[in-house]
This record gives sequence, structure tokens and C-alpha cells, in this order.
Amino acid sequence: MSTTHEADEDIRNRDIKIYVNGDIVHRDAAKVSVYDSGFMLGDGIWEGMRLYDGVWAFFDEHMDRFFNSCKTISMDVGMDKAGIAEAMRQTAKANGMTGDVHCRLMLTRGIKDKPFQHPQLSTSGPTLVIIMEHSKPVDRLQSAGIRLATVPQVRGLPMAQDPKLNSHSKLNCIIACLQAEAAGADEGLMLDPQGFVNTTNACNFFIVRRGEVWTSTGDYCMNGVTRQKVIDLCRTNGIPVFEKNFSLYETYGADEAFLTGTFGAQTPVAEIDGKPIGTGERPVTARIQALYKELIRAHVAALS
Ligand SMILES: Cc1ncc(COP(=O)(O)O)c(C=O)c1O
Repeated sequence: MSTTHEADEDIRNRDIKIYVNGDIVHRDAAKVSVYDSGFMLGDGIWEGMRLYDGVWAFFDEHMDRFFNSCKTISMDVGMDKAGIAEAMRQTAKANGMTGDVHCRLMLTRGIKDKPFQHPQLSTSGPTLVIIMEHSKPVDRLQSAGIRLATVPQVRGLPMAQDPKLNSHSKLNCIIACLQAEAAGADEGLMLDPQGFVNTTNACNFFIVRRGEVWTSTGDYCMNGVTRQKVIDLCRTNGIPVFEKNFSLYETYGADEAFLTGTFGAQTPVAEIDGKPIGTGERPVTARIQALYKELIRAHVAALS
């Protein structure tokens, strides 16, 4: 099995320090209450971010999404963007981390008085946890590519649970992943309620056809920071890019396909439902990967 979040084993992660509501403690001591809203109900919002040479890539974009999500679910963050940046700075410093680091920042509605759903029962104030791990995506996936399977689990409508909310409860995605695994694939390719190809259970999805880059309309999928960067890079570099509906027909017949996410940047797709994608030559994906690396380099240089 491969996953898009596969990292080289790094034994330093056995002794990382984790931020829990202002305390920075060894991972074995990092605990939250069983009454925590995140544990009990999945009532929380998270962000995944990467540290490159001392700079958290696209921090402002991640914070825009994070604060927008927290506002949507009426969850008080308890601090502003500068406060989050400072908590992350302290955590990275406590761990002596400067690069090749992945951060999972998690905020829940906090500890509940009773084990029931009502948000008013969460009276402690929010719980903020920051996990930072040394992490380098494995090289193997870049050449081998990932295997996808189309799954029965679909993306939800925004009036059910908006898929743009990076909520602690990921059951929709987890069920899709389990279905993909049962089909012998690494990750699930999820359709929207009309049957158009939308996204995978953990990453955004792109295809390349006749030199054009296509991705879903953006409805029903995570508003991925990397997704938007890839679209912007295509636009500024003369690569035709379209956010549009397309079906499995165009997907199976694509010349290339790739996933995007903060962790793996762009991960090539080798096959979908057992059908190889293209010839295995991936010139457009390679060009986008090079442009993205350069974007990160320039972004880090500008903020260093
Ligand atoms: C379901 C899903 N799709 C896509 C992404 C990728 O988003 P980003 O590029 O902001 O990491 C994520 C990351 O949180 C996700 O959970």
C-alpha cells in the first residue's frame, strides 16, 4: 500500500514536542480530555502546513481558510493570526525544526461538561494542539505514481456538511479511503453528486488532456491551497487550465493525472480502476512540479 502522505521513517519523531493549549510537552505526555469536543464529536477544524527553510509556506492562505472555517462553525479561535504564528514559532523552536517539517494544527471547541452534542456544553474554551513532525515525502511515488479507485462514497452537498470545512470528522473521506483499499488501490477517487469526477479522499485531483490542465469546478472539494497555486501557476505560465465538470470518460483517457496537497505537492497518478493513465510520460506534470518548486523557493526567499 502507498499513500500520498507517505514519509521516510525519521526516528526523531519519537521524541518530538507537541503544543497543547500553551504547553509544549513530549509527545507521550501530550493529551486531551476524553470530554474534548474533537474526540467526542469531531467538532474541530485543522490545517496541514509545511516548513521550508524557516518559512511556513503560504501561511496567510492557510490562515484565511482556517479562520473562515472556524467562523462558519461559530468556533472562537481564542487568538488572532499572529497568535497562531507565535504558537507555531515556539513549537518549531522547541523541536529545533527549520525545514522538511509537516505541521498539523488542530482546534476543537474544547472540553464539554457532559457527553452530549450541544455546542453550549463546551465551556472550557477551545483546545489548540500543534503537532510538528520531521517529514520528507518518499521519492518512490514520484516515479511509480499512485493508484486510485473510483469509490461509491460521493462528496457531499454544501448544505449537508460543506466539503470546504477541514473538519476533524473526516468520515466521508475515510469511508472513501476504505473503499479504495478494498478495491486494491491507494486512494479513493470521489465523484460529485452528479457523477462528475471531483477529488480524492485526501488530495485535489487534476488531469491533463492534449496539453490542457483540467480540475473540477471546485464545488464539493476542499479549497486546497496547493490546488489554487497550481491553477495560478498554469495561468501565469501560459498553460491552459480549466475548472470544469468532466466524467470518468475523459479521466480514463487523460494523458496525465496528478494530485495536489500541501504534503506531497504534486503526486502523479499511475492508474485509475486498474487502467493505466497515459503512457507514463508526464511532461506537463513535471513542468508544473518545477514551477511549484520555484514558487516555493521565491516565496521562502521573499519572507526570509
Ligand atoms: C480532502 C482534502 N483535499 C485536499 C486537501 C489539500 O489541500 P491543501 O492543498 O490546502 O493541502 C486536503 C488537505 O487538507 C484535504 O483534506
